Amino acid sequence: MSSKTNLADTKHRSVNSDLNNPQTAHDDQIIHTRSRKKVAVIGLGAVGLSLASFLGSKNISVTAIDYDEKKIKMIQKGCTPFYEPSLKYYLQKSLKNGLNLETRITENTLSNDFIFITTGTPLNKQNQLNLEYVKAVALSLAEQMSHLKTKPSIVIKSTVLPGTAMQVVKPILEQNSLVESVNFDLLSNPEFLREGSAMQDTVSPHVIVIGGSNSKSIKKLTMFYKMIYPDKMQFIETNNATAEMIKFANNAFLATKISFINSLANICQKVGVNVDDVARVIGMDPRIGNLFLKAGPGYGGACLPKDVEALISFSNEIGYDPILLNAVRDTNIFQLNKIIDIIKQEIHSLEEKNIGILGLAFKEDTDDIRESVSIKLIEYLLDQNCKIIAHDPKAIENTYKVFEDKIMYCKDTNDVFYGTDCVILLTPWKEYTKINEKKILKMRNPLVIDTRRMLKISNKKIRYIGLGIGK
Ligand code: UGA
Repeated sequence: MSSKTNLADTKHRSVNSDLNNPQTAHDDQIIHTRSRKKVAVIGLGAVGLSLASFLGSKNISVTAIDYDEKKIKMIQKGCTPFYEPSLKYYLQKSLKNGLNLETRITENTLSNDFIFITTGTPLNKQNQLNLEYVKAVALSLAEQMSHLKTKPSIVIKSTVLPGTAMQVVKPILEQNSLVESVNFDLLSNPEFLREGSAMQDTVSPHVIVIGGSNSKSIKKLTMFYKMIYPDKMQFIETNNATAEMIKFANNAFLATKISFINSLANICQKVGVNVDDVARVIGMDPRIGNLFLKAGPGYGGACLPKDVEALISFSNEIGYDPILLNAVRDTNIFQLNKIIDIIKQEIHSLEEKNIGILGLAFKEDTDDIRESVSIKLIEYLLDQNCKIIAHDPKAIENTYKVFEDKIMYCKDTNDVFYGTDCVILLTPWKEYTKINEKKILKMRNPLVIDTRRMLKISNKKIRYIGLGIGK
Protein backbone atom coordinates (compact mmCIF):
# COMPACT_ATOMS: atom_id res chain seq x y z
CA MET A 1 0.00 0.00 0.00
CA SER A 2 2.67 2.48 1.05
CA SER A 3 4.89 1.71 -1.96
CA LYS A 4 1.97 2.60 -4.23
CA THR A 5 1.67 5.94 -2.49
CA ASN A 6 5.36 6.61 -2.98
CA LEU A 7 5.10 5.76 -6.65
CA ALA A 8 2.26 8.22 -7.09
CA ASP A 9 4.24 10.90 -5.22
CA THR A 10 7.28 10.46 -7.43
CA LYS A 11 5.16 10.65 -10.55
CA HIS A 12 3.51 13.84 -9.38
CA ARG A 13 6.84 15.45 -8.67
CA SER A 14 8.22 14.76 -12.12
CA VAL A 15 5.09 16.11 -13.76
CA ASN A 16 5.35 19.19 -11.62
CA SER A 17 8.77 20.04 -12.94
CA ASP A 18 7.58 19.41 -16.49
CA LEU A 19 4.77 21.87 -16.04
CA ASN A 20 7.12 24.52 -14.79
CA ASN A 21 8.77 24.27 -18.15
CA PRO A 22 5.96 23.19 -20.47
CA GLN A 23 8.18 23.50 -23.54
CA THR A 24 10.05 20.39 -22.48
CA ALA A 25 7.10 18.53 -21.02
CA HIS A 26 7.06 14.81 -21.76
CA ASP A 27 3.29 15.03 -22.15
CA ASP A 28 3.82 17.00 -25.35
CA GLN A 29 4.33 13.68 -27.08
CA ILE A 30 1.72 13.15 -29.75
CA ILE A 31 -0.22 9.91 -29.71
CA HIS A 32 0.09 7.86 -32.87
CA THR A 33 -2.69 5.39 -33.53
CA ARG A 34 -4.25 4.08 -36.72
CA SER A 35 -7.61 5.67 -36.08
CA ARG A 36 -7.62 9.18 -34.68
CA LYS A 37 -10.02 9.30 -31.75
CA LYS A 38 -12.70 11.98 -31.73
CA VAL A 39 -14.11 13.46 -28.54
CA ALA A 40 -16.51 16.23 -27.58
CA VAL A 41 -16.23 18.10 -24.29
CA ILE A 42 -19.39 19.94 -23.23
CA GLY A 43 -19.07 22.72 -20.62
CA LEU A 44 -15.83 24.69 -20.51
CA GLY A 45 -15.20 25.46 -16.84
CA ALA A 46 -12.00 24.39 -15.07
CA VAL A 47 -12.67 20.68 -15.66
CA GLY A 48 -13.90 20.89 -19.26
CA LEU A 49 -11.38 23.39 -20.56
CA SER A 50 -8.44 21.61 -18.91
CA LEU A 51 -9.56 18.29 -20.38
CA ALA A 52 -10.25 19.70 -23.86
CA SER A 53 -6.90 21.55 -23.91
CA PHE A 54 -4.95 18.52 -22.73
CA LEU A 55 -6.59 16.07 -25.14
CA GLY A 56 -6.28 18.62 -27.93
CA SER A 57 -2.55 18.89 -27.27
CA LYS A 58 -2.34 15.19 -28.20
CA ASN A 59 -3.32 13.66 -31.50
CA ILE A 60 -6.98 13.62 -30.56
CA SER A 61 -9.68 15.45 -32.45
CA VAL A 62 -11.49 17.58 -29.88
CA THR A 63 -14.69 19.57 -30.21
CA ALA A 64 -15.15 21.82 -27.19
CA ILE A 65 -18.68 23.11 -26.67
CA ASP A 66 -20.02 25.86 -24.42
CA TYR A 67 -23.26 27.84 -24.78
CA ASP A 68 -21.46 31.05 -23.71
CA GLU A 69 -20.50 32.71 -27.00
CA LYS A 70 -18.30 35.31 -25.32
CA LYS A 71 -16.31 32.57 -23.63
CA ILE A 72 -15.93 30.65 -26.90
CA LYS A 73 -14.64 33.75 -28.71
CA MET A 74 -12.08 34.30 -25.99
CA ILE A 75 -10.92 30.67 -26.07
CA GLN A 76 -10.73 30.81 -29.86
CA LYS A 77 -8.14 33.60 -29.48
CA GLY A 78 -6.08 31.43 -27.13
CA CYS A 79 -7.11 33.35 -24.00
CA THR A 80 -8.31 31.51 -20.92
CA PRO A 81 -11.53 32.80 -19.28
CA PHE A 82 -10.03 32.27 -15.80
CA TYR A 83 -6.54 32.10 -14.35
CA GLU A 84 -5.11 28.61 -14.18
CA PRO A 85 -1.34 27.93 -14.33
CA SER A 86 -0.21 26.22 -17.59
CA LEU A 87 -3.74 26.14 -19.05
CA LYS A 88 -2.94 28.79 -21.64
CA TYR A 89 0.02 26.78 -22.88
CA TYR A 90 -2.09 23.65 -23.40
CA LEU A 91 -4.97 25.61 -24.90
CA GLN A 92 -2.76 27.33 -27.46
CA LYS A 93 -1.12 24.04 -28.37
CA SER A 94 -4.49 22.39 -28.87
CA LEU A 95 -5.70 25.32 -31.00
CA LYS A 96 -2.66 24.82 -33.20
CA ASN A 97 -3.65 21.14 -33.47
CA GLY A 98 -7.11 22.16 -34.68
CA LEU A 99 -9.26 22.35 -31.52
CA ASN A 100 -12.79 22.88 -32.75
CA LEU A 101 -14.96 25.27 -30.72
CA GLU A 102 -18.73 25.34 -30.89
CA THR A 103 -21.65 26.88 -29.04
CA ARG A 104 -24.23 24.18 -29.78
CA ILE A 105 -24.69 20.45 -29.61
CA THR A 106 -25.33 19.26 -33.15
CA GLU A 107 -25.79 16.04 -35.06
CA ASN A 108 -22.00 15.95 -35.43
CA THR A 109 -21.49 15.92 -31.66
CA LEU A 110 -22.97 12.42 -31.61
CA SER A 111 -20.40 11.15 -34.10
CA ASN A 112 -17.62 11.43 -31.50
CA ASP A 113 -16.20 8.33 -29.83
CA PHE A 114 -16.62 9.92 -26.41
CA ILE A 115 -18.85 12.79 -25.34
CA PHE A 116 -17.72 14.21 -22.01
CA ILE A 117 -20.29 16.16 -20.00
CA THR A 118 -18.40 18.65 -17.82
CA THR A 119 -21.07 21.22 -16.98
CA GLY A 120 -21.29 22.69 -13.48
CA THR A 121 -23.67 21.42 -10.81
CA PRO A 122 -24.11 24.36 -8.40
CA LEU A 123 -26.46 24.32 -5.39
CA ASN A 124 -30.06 25.43 -5.69
CA LYS A 125 -31.89 27.46 -3.03
CA GLN A 126 -32.78 24.27 -1.13
CA ASN A 127 -29.09 23.32 -0.91
CA GLN A 128 -29.59 20.48 -3.36
CA LEU A 129 -27.44 19.88 -6.40
CA ASN A 130 -28.87 21.77 -9.37
CA LEU A 131 -28.84 19.37 -12.33
CA GLU A 132 -30.28 21.92 -14.75
CA TYR A 133 -27.16 22.10 -16.97
CA VAL A 134 -26.50 18.36 -17.01
CA LYS A 135 -30.15 17.74 -17.90
CA ALA A 136 -30.09 20.38 -20.65
CA VAL A 137 -27.04 18.72 -22.22
CA ALA A 138 -28.68 15.29 -22.00
CA LEU A 139 -31.82 16.66 -23.66
CA SER A 140 -29.85 18.31 -26.49
CA LEU A 141 -27.92 15.07 -27.07
CA ALA A 142 -31.17 13.08 -27.10
CA GLU A 143 -32.69 15.41 -29.67
CA GLN A 144 -29.81 14.65 -32.06
CA MET A 145 -30.00 10.92 -31.58
CA SER A 146 -32.30 10.15 -34.48
CA HIS A 147 -29.31 10.47 -36.77
CA LEU A 148 -27.10 8.05 -34.85
CA LYS A 149 -24.82 6.02 -37.06
CA THR A 150 -22.37 5.02 -34.33
CA LYS A 151 -22.70 4.07 -30.67
CA PRO A 152 -21.24 6.96 -28.71
CA SER A 153 -20.05 6.78 -25.12
CA ILE A 154 -21.58 9.54 -23.09
CA VAL A 155 -19.30 10.19 -20.13
CA ILE A 156 -20.50 12.18 -17.12
CA LYS A 157 -17.61 14.04 -15.49
CA SER A 158 -19.82 16.60 -13.74
CA THR A 159 -20.20 16.07 -10.00
CA VAL A 160 -23.53 14.30 -9.55
CA LEU A 161 -25.07 12.35 -6.67
CA PRO A 162 -25.41 8.54 -6.69
CA GLY A 163 -28.20 7.44 -9.01
CA THR A 164 -28.06 10.47 -11.33
CA ALA A 165 -26.62 8.70 -14.38
CA MET A 166 -29.05 5.82 -14.31
CA GLN A 167 -32.15 7.47 -12.86
CA VAL A 168 -31.95 10.98 -14.36
CA VAL A 169 -29.65 11.18 -17.38
CA LYS A 170 -30.41 7.79 -18.95
CA PRO A 171 -34.22 8.33 -19.02
CA ILE A 172 -33.73 11.79 -20.56
CA LEU A 173 -31.55 10.31 -23.30
CA GLU A 174 -33.94 7.44 -23.95
CA GLN A 175 -37.24 9.28 -23.76
CA ASN A 176 -36.37 12.35 -25.82
CA SER A 177 -34.76 10.93 -28.91
CA LEU A 178 -36.75 10.90 -32.11
CA VAL A 179 -36.34 7.18 -32.71
CA GLU A 180 -37.76 4.22 -30.84
CA SER A 181 -34.54 2.73 -29.56
CA VAL A 182 -31.22 4.50 -29.19
CA ASN A 183 -27.86 2.94 -28.73
CA PHE A 184 -25.34 4.61 -26.45
CA ASP A 185 -23.15 3.84 -23.46
CA LEU A 186 -23.48 5.92 -20.33
CA LEU A 187 -20.42 6.15 -18.10
CA SER A 188 -19.64 7.99 -14.86
CA ASN A 189 -16.06 9.24 -14.72
CA PRO A 190 -15.68 11.73 -11.84
CA GLU A 191 -12.89 14.27 -11.81
CA PHE A 192 -10.52 14.99 -8.92
CA LEU A 193 -8.63 18.02 -10.21
CA ARG A 194 -8.01 21.05 -8.04
CA GLU A 195 -8.21 24.65 -9.14
CA GLY A 196 -4.74 26.14 -9.21
CA SER A 197 -3.26 22.80 -10.29
CA ALA A 198 -5.94 21.76 -12.78
CA MET A 199 -3.46 21.06 -15.60
CA GLN A 200 -1.09 19.13 -13.38
CA ASP A 201 -4.00 17.00 -12.17
CA THR A 202 -5.32 16.51 -15.72
CA VAL A 203 -1.91 15.56 -17.08
CA SER A 204 -1.27 13.20 -14.19
CA PRO A 205 -4.41 12.14 -12.29
CA HIS A 206 -3.80 10.01 -9.18
CA VAL A 207 -6.59 7.62 -10.20
CA ILE A 208 -9.15 7.18 -12.97
CA VAL A 209 -12.56 5.99 -11.83
CA ILE A 210 -14.92 4.64 -14.48
CA GLY A 211 -18.42 3.55 -13.60
CA GLY A 212 -20.76 1.87 -16.06
CA SER A 213 -23.38 -0.80 -16.50
CA ASN A 214 -21.45 -3.08 -18.84
CA SER A 215 -17.81 -4.06 -18.88
CA LYS A 216 -17.38 -3.55 -22.65
CA SER A 217 -18.18 0.16 -22.45
CA ILE A 218 -15.97 0.59 -19.36
CA LYS A 219 -13.08 -1.14 -21.17
CA LYS A 220 -13.53 1.16 -24.19
CA LEU A 221 -12.96 4.26 -22.04
CA THR A 222 -10.14 2.55 -20.11
CA MET A 223 -8.35 1.81 -23.41
CA PHE A 224 -8.77 5.42 -24.49
CA TYR A 225 -7.19 6.66 -21.26
CA LYS A 226 -4.40 4.06 -21.49
CA MET A 227 -3.52 5.55 -24.87
CA ILE A 228 -3.28 9.04 -23.33
CA TYR A 229 -1.59 8.04 -20.12
CA PRO A 230 1.09 5.57 -21.14
CA ASP A 231 2.59 5.53 -17.64
CA LYS A 232 1.35 3.19 -14.96
CA MET A 233 -2.06 4.47 -13.97
CA GLN A 234 -4.53 3.21 -11.38
CA PHE A 235 -7.91 2.42 -12.93
CA ILE A 236 -10.99 1.70 -10.86
CA GLU A 237 -13.78 0.06 -12.82
CA THR A 238 -17.14 -0.02 -11.10
CA ASN A 239 -20.84 0.75 -11.54
CA ASN A 240 -22.24 4.26 -12.13
CA ALA A 241 -23.59 4.87 -8.62
CA THR A 242 -20.35 3.81 -6.93
CA ALA A 243 -18.32 6.13 -9.17
CA GLU A 244 -20.70 8.96 -8.33
CA MET A 245 -20.47 8.23 -4.60
CA ILE A 246 -16.65 8.05 -4.70
CA LYS A 247 -16.55 11.68 -5.85
CA PHE A 248 -18.67 12.87 -2.93
CA ALA A 249 -16.81 10.68 -0.45
CA ASN A 250 -13.54 12.15 -1.67
CA ASN A 251 -14.57 15.78 -1.27
CA ALA A 252 -16.41 15.15 2.00
CA PHE A 253 -13.35 13.46 3.46
CA LEU A 254 -11.07 16.33 2.41
CA ALA A 255 -13.50 18.78 4.02
CA THR A 256 -13.54 16.62 7.16
CA LYS A 257 -9.75 16.74 7.41
CA ILE A 258 -9.78 20.53 7.12
CA SER A 259 -12.56 21.00 9.69
CA PHE A 260 -10.77 18.59 12.02
CA ILE A 261 -7.51 20.51 11.88
CA ASN A 262 -9.35 23.82 12.18
CA SER A 263 -11.04 22.56 15.36
CA LEU A 264 -7.63 21.57 16.71
CA ALA A 265 -6.21 24.96 15.69
CA ASN A 266 -8.83 26.68 17.81
CA ILE A 267 -7.90 24.53 20.81
CA CYS A 268 -4.16 25.09 20.16
CA GLN A 269 -4.80 28.82 19.97
CA LYS A 270 -6.13 28.79 23.54
CA VAL A 271 -3.28 26.78 25.04
CA GLY A 272 -0.39 28.34 23.10
CA VAL A 273 0.53 25.26 21.06
CA ASN A 274 1.41 25.57 17.35
CA VAL A 275 -1.11 23.56 15.33
CA ASP A 276 1.42 23.08 12.50
CA ASP A 277 3.75 21.19 14.87
CA VAL A 278 0.87 18.91 15.78
CA ALA A 279 -0.27 18.49 12.15
CA ARG A 280 3.25 17.68 10.96
CA VAL A 281 3.61 14.80 13.39
CA ILE A 282 0.13 13.30 13.10
CA GLY A 283 0.61 13.53 9.32
CA MET A 284 3.62 11.17 9.64
CA ASP A 285 1.21 8.41 10.61
CA PRO A 286 0.47 6.74 7.25
CA ARG A 287 -3.07 6.09 8.44
CA ILE A 288 -3.59 9.86 8.61
CA GLY A 289 -1.31 11.32 5.91
CA ASN A 290 0.10 14.84 5.86
CA LEU A 291 -2.06 16.48 3.17
CA PHE A 292 -5.07 18.71 3.87
CA LEU A 293 -3.98 19.34 7.44
CA LYS A 294 -3.26 23.05 7.01
CA ALA A 295 -5.45 24.98 9.41
CA GLY A 296 -6.86 28.22 8.06
CA PRO A 297 -9.94 30.38 7.67
CA GLY A 298 -12.07 27.44 6.51
CA TYR A 299 -12.44 25.75 3.16
CA GLY A 300 -13.96 27.74 0.29
CA GLY A 301 -14.30 27.41 -3.47
CA ALA A 302 -16.94 26.05 -5.78
CA CYS A 303 -16.58 22.44 -4.68
CA LEU A 304 -16.00 21.46 -1.05
CA PRO A 305 -18.70 23.69 0.54
CA LYS A 306 -21.18 22.77 -2.20
CA ASP A 307 -20.51 19.04 -2.17
CA VAL A 308 -20.66 18.70 1.63
CA GLU A 309 -23.94 20.65 1.64
CA ALA A 310 -25.36 18.56 -1.23
CA LEU A 311 -24.38 15.30 0.48
CA ILE A 312 -26.07 16.48 3.70
CA SER A 313 -29.29 17.30 1.81
CA PHE A 314 -29.14 14.00 -0.05
CA SER A 315 -28.59 12.02 3.19
CA ASN A 316 -31.56 13.76 4.84
CA GLU A 317 -33.72 13.06 1.78
CA ILE A 318 -32.96 9.35 1.92
CA GLY A 319 -33.62 9.23 5.66
CA TYR A 320 -30.18 9.39 7.25
CA ASP A 321 -29.11 12.17 9.61
CA PRO A 322 -25.43 12.83 8.71
CA ILE A 323 -24.25 14.09 12.13
CA LEU A 324 -20.55 14.13 11.21
CA LEU A 325 -21.07 15.98 7.91
CA ASN A 326 -23.24 18.56 9.70
CA ALA A 327 -20.37 19.13 12.14
CA VAL A 328 -17.85 19.43 9.29
CA ARG A 329 -20.02 22.09 7.62
CA ASP A 330 -20.76 23.95 10.89
CA THR A 331 -17.09 23.93 11.94
CA ASN A 332 -16.23 25.48 8.59
CA ILE A 333 -18.81 28.23 8.94
CA PHE A 334 -17.67 28.88 12.53
CA GLN A 335 -14.10 29.51 11.42
CA LEU A 336 -15.04 32.94 10.04
CA ASN A 337 -16.62 33.82 13.41
CA LYS A 338 -13.38 32.75 15.06
CA ILE A 339 -11.44 35.27 12.94
CA ILE A 340 -14.02 37.97 13.68
CA ASP A 341 -13.71 37.24 17.43
CA ILE A 342 -9.93 37.69 17.24
CA ILE A 343 -10.32 41.01 15.40
CA LYS A 344 -12.86 42.23 17.96
CA GLN A 345 -10.64 41.23 20.87
CA GLU A 346 -7.76 43.21 19.44
CA ILE A 347 -9.65 46.24 18.11
CA HIS A 348 -12.49 47.13 20.41
CA SER A 349 -14.31 49.49 18.09
CA LEU A 350 -14.19 48.65 14.39
CA GLU A 351 -15.91 51.90 13.33
CA GLU A 352 -13.82 53.77 10.70
CA LYS A 353 -10.84 51.46 11.16
CA ASN A 354 -8.57 50.84 8.17
CA ILE A 355 -8.27 47.11 7.57
CA GLY A 356 -5.87 45.51 5.09
CA ILE A 357 -6.77 42.18 3.50
CA LEU A 358 -4.07 39.93 2.05
CA GLY A 359 -5.65 37.47 -0.37
CA LEU A 360 -9.09 37.43 -1.95
CA ALA A 361 -9.09 34.16 -3.90
CA PHE A 362 -10.41 31.10 -2.02
CA LYS A 363 -6.95 29.57 -2.37
CA GLU A 364 -3.61 30.37 -3.97
CA ASP A 365 -2.91 30.10 -7.73
CA THR A 366 -6.46 30.91 -8.79
CA ASP A 367 -8.53 34.04 -9.41
CA ASP A 368 -11.68 32.26 -8.16
CA ILE A 369 -13.42 34.01 -5.26
CA ARG A 370 -16.43 31.70 -4.99
CA GLU A 371 -17.16 30.92 -1.31
CA SER A 372 -13.94 32.72 -0.39
CA VAL A 373 -13.77 33.53 3.33
CA SER A 374 -12.06 36.83 2.41
CA ILE A 375 -15.21 38.02 0.62
CA LYS A 376 -17.43 37.08 3.59
CA LEU A 377 -15.08 38.81 6.01
CA ILE A 378 -14.99 41.98 3.89
CA GLU A 379 -18.82 42.01 3.82
CA TYR A 380 -18.85 41.84 7.62
CA LEU A 381 -16.20 44.54 8.03
CA LEU A 382 -18.00 46.88 5.62
CA ASP A 383 -21.14 46.43 7.75
CA GLN A 384 -19.07 47.63 10.72
CA ASN A 385 -18.06 50.76 8.76
CA CYS A 386 -14.45 49.69 8.28
CA LYS A 387 -12.40 50.92 5.36
CA ILE A 388 -10.88 48.07 3.39
CA ILE A 389 -7.74 47.93 1.29
CA ALA A 390 -7.26 44.56 -0.38
CA HIS A 391 -4.46 42.82 -2.24
CA ASP A 392 -4.48 39.71 -4.40
CA PRO A 393 -2.13 38.82 -7.25
CA LYS A 394 -4.94 37.48 -9.48
CA ALA A 395 -8.42 37.93 -7.99
CA ILE A 396 -8.92 41.72 -7.95
CA GLU A 397 -10.94 41.80 -11.17
CA ASN A 398 -13.42 39.23 -9.83
CA THR A 399 -13.61 40.97 -6.45
CA TYR A 400 -14.33 44.29 -8.14
CA LYS A 401 -17.47 42.70 -9.60
CA VAL A 402 -18.70 42.15 -6.02
CA PHE A 403 -17.64 45.31 -4.16
CA GLU A 404 -16.93 47.79 -6.99
CA ASP A 405 -15.64 51.02 -5.37
CA LYS A 406 -16.79 50.14 -1.85
CA ILE A 407 -13.26 48.94 -1.09
CA MET A 408 -9.77 49.90 -2.30
CA TYR A 409 -7.57 47.53 -4.26
CA CYS A 410 -3.79 47.48 -4.52
CA LYS A 411 -1.22 45.70 -6.64
CA ASP A 412 1.64 46.16 -4.19
CA THR A 413 1.51 44.54 -0.75
CA ASN A 414 3.18 47.68 0.70
CA ASP A 415 -0.10 49.55 0.29
CA VAL A 416 -1.98 47.04 2.46
CA PHE A 417 0.21 48.02 5.42
CA TYR A 418 0.62 51.73 4.89
CA GLY A 419 -1.42 53.53 7.60
CA THR A 420 -3.74 50.59 8.39
CA ASP A 421 -4.93 49.47 11.86
CA CYS A 422 -5.03 45.75 11.21
CA VAL A 423 -3.96 43.43 8.38
CA ILE A 424 -5.50 39.98 7.93
CA LEU A 425 -3.76 37.36 5.80
CA LEU A 426 -6.27 34.89 4.36
CA THR A 427 -5.02 33.33 1.11
CA PRO A 428 -1.65 31.52 1.21
CA TRP A 429 -0.09 33.10 -1.88
CA LYS A 430 3.59 32.17 -1.93
CA GLU A 431 4.67 35.80 -2.36
CA TYR A 432 3.26 36.65 1.09
CA THR A 433 6.11 34.73 2.72
CA LYS A 434 8.37 37.59 1.56
CA ILE A 435 6.53 40.19 3.66
CA ASN A 436 8.99 41.48 6.24
CA GLU A 437 8.76 43.39 9.51
CA LYS A 438 9.90 46.67 7.90
CA LYS A 439 6.77 46.60 5.73
CA ILE A 440 4.52 45.81 8.70
CA LEU A 441 5.97 48.67 10.77
CA LYS A 442 4.45 51.08 8.21
CA MET A 443 1.07 50.36 9.81
CA ARG A 444 -0.65 52.93 11.98
CA ASN A 445 -1.15 50.17 14.48
CA PRO A 446 1.05 47.15 13.68
CA LEU A 447 -1.43 44.32 14.19
CA VAL A 448 -1.36 41.28 11.91
CA ILE A 449 -3.77 38.34 12.01
CA ASP A 450 -2.23 35.55 9.99
CA THR A 451 -4.79 32.80 9.37
CA ARG A 452 -2.22 30.70 7.49
CA ARG A 453 0.82 31.26 9.78
CA MET A 454 3.03 32.34 6.89
CA LEU A 455 4.83 35.34 8.37
CA LYS A 456 7.94 35.24 10.55
CA ILE A 457 7.67 37.98 13.14
CA SER A 458 9.90 38.63 16.15
CA ASN A 459 9.72 42.43 16.51
CA LYS A 460 7.94 43.25 19.77
CA LYS A 461 6.38 46.39 18.26
CA ILE A 462 4.21 44.15 16.06
CA ARG A 463 1.18 42.40 17.54
CA TYR A 464 1.21 39.17 15.55
CA ILE A 465 -1.57 36.62 15.95
CA GLY A 466 -1.18 33.38 14.04
CA LEU A 467 -4.43 31.42 13.94
CA GLY A 468 -3.72 28.15 15.74
CA ILE A 469 -0.59 29.34 17.49
CA GLY A 470 -1.84 31.46 20.36
CA LYS A 471 -0.24 34.72 21.45
C1 UGA B 1 -11.45 20.28 -4.49
C2 UGA B 1 -10.79 18.91 -4.35
O1 UGA B 1 -9.55 19.05 -3.66
C3 UGA B 1 -10.55 18.28 -5.73
O2 UGA B 1 -10.01 16.98 -5.58
C4 UGA B 1 -11.88 18.20 -6.48
O3 UGA B 1 -11.72 17.67 -7.77
C5 UGA B 1 -12.47 19.60 -6.58
O4 UGA B 1 -12.65 20.14 -5.25
C6 UGA B 1 -13.80 19.48 -7.28
O5 UGA B 1 -14.70 18.82 -6.75
O6 UGA B 1 -13.92 19.96 -8.41
P1 UGA B 1 -10.58 22.75 -5.04
O7 UGA B 1 -11.92 23.21 -4.61
O8 UGA B 1 -10.03 23.24 -6.32
O9 UGA B 1 -10.54 21.14 -5.14
O10 UGA B 1 -9.54 23.18 -3.92
P2 UGA B 1 -8.84 22.48 -2.68
O11 UGA B 1 -7.39 22.41 -2.94
O12 UGA B 1 -9.51 21.24 -2.30
O13 UGA B 1 -9.08 23.59 -1.54
C7 UGA B 1 -10.39 23.84 -1.05
C8 UGA B 1 -10.32 24.77 0.13
O14 UGA B 1 -9.73 24.13 1.26
C9 UGA B 1 -9.49 26.03 -0.09
O15 UGA B 1 -10.17 27.12 0.48
C10 UGA B 1 -8.20 25.76 0.64
O16 UGA B 1 -7.53 26.93 1.08
C11 UGA B 1 -8.71 24.94 1.82
N1 UGA B 1 -7.68 24.07 2.41
C12 UGA B 1 -7.12 23.06 1.70
C13 UGA B 1 -7.30 24.29 3.73
O17 UGA B 1 -7.78 25.22 4.42
N2 UGA B 1 -6.34 23.48 4.28
C14 UGA B 1 -5.78 22.45 3.58
O18 UGA B 1 -4.93 21.74 4.17
C15 UGA B 1 -6.18 22.25 2.26
